[in-house]
Amino acid sequence: MKISNETPLFPLRKGTHTRQAHVDLPPGTFEEEHGRQGFYGKVSHLYRLHPPTDWTRVEGPLKPHSYDLNQLFGGKADAAIAASQFGSKEDAFAPICFLHNDDVAMHFVAPKTMDFFYRNTDGDDVFYIHAGSGRLETDFGVLDYAKGDYLVIPRGTTYRFLPGSGEQRYLLIESFSEVTIPDRGALGPNALFDPAMIDTPEIPPYDEGKGREWAVHIKRENEITKVYYPFNPLDAIGWKGDLTVWRINVKDIRPVMSHRYHLPPSIHTTFLMKNAVICSFLPRPFEEEEGAMRVPFYHRNIDYDEVLFYSDGHFFSRDGIGAGMVTWHPTGIHHGPHPKAIPKSREKERTDEVAVMVDTARYLKATPAAGLVENQNYWASWK
Ligand SMILES: [Fe+2]
Repeated sequence: MKISNETPLFPLRKGTHTRQAHVDLPPGTFEEEHGRQGFYGKVSHLYRLHPPTDWTRVEGPLKPHSYDLNQLFGGKADAAIAASQFGSKEDAFAPICFLHNDDVAMHFVAPKTMDFFYRNTDGDDVFYIHAGSGRLETDFGVLDYAKGDYLVIPRGTTYRFLPGSGEQRYLLIESFSEVTIPDRGALGPNALFDPAMIDTPEIPPYDEGKGREWAVHIKRENEITKVYYPFNPLDAIGWKGDLTVWRINVKDIRPVMSHRYHLPPSIHTTFLMKNAVICSFLPRPFEEEEGAMRVPFYHRNIDYDEVLFYSDGHFFSRDGIGAGMVTWHPTGIHHGPHPKAIPKSREKERTDEVAVMVDTARYLKATPAAGLVENQNYWASWK
């Protein structure tokens, strides 16, 4: 008989525990999930007498972090842009990087009408429109966008933003590998969102834009090369193929849930990259069965750093977190619901939160720009 490392012969059980994870916890205990490969791999559940986040002090780099990205564009804007990887404050498009590793870089950007085009040679760009709307011009045509849209722009595509009026705040997740969507498995190909809900750009009438010079800013290894043309370089009058810019709105993503069992965050995966995933936490009813957990279990992210960007609604499992803020829980240290979240979740029927999660298999680093807007006391918020 072949013994696979992936399929244990038996789950061991010791002491006081529940047989069904996340349901009917022994009274007075706090469940911790200790698992591999995010929520796919081998796993044990520990039933603890105290929340593992009940620390008195944390010293060292694994301290949970929280950043208020709104402040990047307040009085700290100049310093933040100066501390970011590229761009200058005069640029209409100057993403401010706050966390990065060799697989992904996360930025916050407040574009103005761009009089130049941009092309990222380093990776695919996934934008999440946190606030604002406008028109995106690309090699493949134009696409209008609004709050809640994800815009996926393949590596090497030339584009520019023509934002509408009002505040513009976009989360940019730059992926150094190709962005794909996950296989729906047993849920079938139309689950989460039907591929027919995807919108792609339309070819507009061409305006050569004579009498001026048109610039394309090409980024490679965070250095900009500027190429100039005597005509508007977005001059494709047609295209064919399966590589293009596309858009899906979070309102068109239909979360999967169980009324009897708290599903792991991985069920909310929207995009896959090499060594990273993007998940969307969207409005949904809570589990309705009496013994079923309604808030995320405690865990220590054995194989992933976890980043959450809070966009809209009430973030039921975290106190003191508002729209436009980010939390970063590095691999190795526990996280889980805030103390008040467990009783509060029992009083409510549903959550209206909209949040974007980025989990990365390799350790992230914070940039100096992130340091400018860090909430230094976040680690103490579980007390
Ligand atoms: Fe987590």
